[in-house]
Amino acid sequence: MNPALQAGFGREMLAHWPLETGVIYLNHGTVGATPRRVLAAQQALREEMEQQPARFLLRELCGLSGPSDRAVPRLREAASAVARFMGAQGPDLVFVDNATAGVNAVLGSLELNPGDQILITNLAYGAVRNAAAFSAERRGARLVTLELPFPGAEPALYINRLSQALTPRTRLVILDHITSETALVLPLAEMAACCRAAGVPVLADGAHAPGAIPLDIPRLGVDYYTGNLHKWALAPKGCGFLWVAPERQQGLHPPVISWGLGQGFVQEFDWVGTKDPTPFLAAPAALALMQEWGLEAMQAYNHHLARQALAWLSARWGFEPPAPEAMLGSMVTLPLPAALGSTRQEALRLQYALLYEHRIEAPILCLGGRLWVRISAQVYNSLEDVEALALALEAYK
Ligand SMILES: Cc1ncc(COP(=O)(O)O)c(C=O)c1O
Repeated sequence: MNPALQAGFGREMLAHWPLETGVIYLNHGTVGATPRRVLAAQQALREEMEQQPARFLLRELCGLSGPSDRAVPRLREAASAVARFMGAQGPDLVFVDNATAGVNAVLGSLELNPGDQILITNLAYGAVRNAAAFSAERRGARLVTLELPFPGAEPALYINRLSQALTPRTRLVILDHITSETALVLPLAEMAACCRAAGVPVLADGAHAPGAIPLDIPRLGVDYYTGNLHKWALAPKGCGFLWVAPERQQGLHPPVISWGLGQGFVQEFDWVGTKDPTPFLAAPAALALMQEWGLEAMQAYNHHLARQALAWLSARWGFEPPAPEAMLGSMVTLPLPAALGSTRQEALRLQYALLYEHRIEAPILCLGGRLWVRISAQVYNSLEDVEALALALEAYK
């Protein structure tokens, strides 16, 4: 940790990003912003690739058409660095374009029979729910929704509700590590333990977790863990991964079947057709940058700023915290004053007003007949950004 840099977190850090001048970007959680240094590393890789594309893609990347001079294929080297960052082993981790692809790989490979159930929570990301519904429906299985309260989230209540929702027909449970709209860090290890006790595999959706919170995937006790590095781990867009417990790797296929079919987990995923692999290969540069800035310091700053936003706005607007401290990470979702509206249309209008009239990018959500704002805290943000957001919103009361 570098205390000088930690002290330098806040608006000065914007110099490291190509973010548009004058825009207050409070939406790192939806679309992460990539620092200049990582983009430069990616561009250098692209230029290297274009010097001899066949060597780079066919031989050096994963040894598709025979070996190269490299001791370790480029993708495996990157996979090892990424796995290490999350307490895992390289051979248990493959790259996918994004968390959506990781979820689809697991769902598409799942053996499901008519009458079987997939359990998902009401807090799950919409696209993941769609993928699960599609997968269940086409095989005569059922997608069952576990209702978890928000606001009023409590880890013990969530664990309890989950254990009651498991049935002898449950074939897979999909759990967020950090929920999307509601920005809650779920008690994933404890929830996974309930499922394990019932013999039901868990697919963890960690789209928001790497970089945002300390992460040791094997210790969570899940069967599958997919996540994005292009949000909080600062990697270029199109950099997701799928970690699979060794005993679940057999029979797991990528959403796109290619040359590796039948050759094992890593081989199947490492080549899914010709594409630009540089988001994956530049991921280690992003992780190294976070280590240089101080990963713990970054997380501490971001978590502190999210809590500051909660404390400051709850005092200003008069609401109860929607979730306990233990369930907060680098994002927080807070209720807006009732005078700002209560419908989806009003939420959208407000979001665009913020963007076009105040140059503030922050998602406005409609949950349970009320409007909410989700604030993402990244090291280039500061409390001043939250204050600007509050003043801008209050203008529409
Ligand atoms: C919880 C969750 N899961 C999955 C996704 C999908 O991520 P991607 O679009 O990178 O696949 C998101 C995106 O924000 C998310 O919040």
